[in-house]
Amino acid sequence: MKNFSKITLSVLIVASATLTSCSNNDDEATPMPVAKATIYERLGGTKMVTDPDNPGMMIEQGRLSYRKVVNSTIGLIVADIQSNAAGNLQAHFAPLLAETGDTQATNIAKLSDNLTDFFSFNTGGTNAVNTYSGLSMVAAHNPATNARMGTKASNADYTKFEGYVGAAANANGVASNTELYTDVVAVLESLRTPIVQK
Ligand code: HEM
Repeated sequence: MKNFSKITLSVLIVASATLTSCSNNDDEATPMPVAKATIYERLGGTKMVTDPDNPGMMIEQGRLSYRKVVNSTIGLIVADIQSNAAGNLQAHFAPLLAETGDTQATNIAKLSDNLTDFFSFNTGGTNAVNTYSGLSMVAAHNPATNARMGTKASNADYTKFEGYVGAAANANGVASNTELYTDVVAVLESLRTPIVQK
């Protein structure tokens, strides 16, 4: 994948390294730089838990947290499209909406899986189960290179989409006034440039 987004996200993770203690007293232990936990770790990390959607299966808590946020986001996008309100995201998802039955269900599940992989892998969930194998963010959001993208996204579309991810995070226990939420928004903002192509 996916050079741009991977690089910006890596920079973000490294840039979040902080000094936890600071002292001028030479007798005290030398302050050690301690990397802040990755977003994936703070969402539950590699701890194995039972998968509520797949009986008998286990899943990393970090991945499960992301999957919940992704599926809530998809629900909000579906509601947005069904609202028929001005500026809704219908045109972007038109190819997916034109599908029916099993084909559509399979492709929505695939999109959910790809989004979960993408967020997990790029925010510290480097277990192979999270490997993202979809298109780069530039290619995925250009109708010329992805027939499933109905039309290019504008800044306003992006802001709306980001708002849905934020609301989905809120609905799944990440409150807006937390550092975790701020860090998630920073990751989303790092993707605006490659995704907005209009
Ligand atoms: C946080 C911002 C976003 C991220 C991380 C993101 C991520 C992704 C990913 C990983 C895919 C799957 C690519 C593949 O399967 O190869 C995808 C597809 C797609 N995205 Fe985005 N996206 C974002 C914002 C947007 C916005 C703002 C729109 C439109 C308003 C949009 C519309 C689409 C569409 C229509 C597809 C194709 C759907 C499909 O294959 O079923 N995305 N996106």
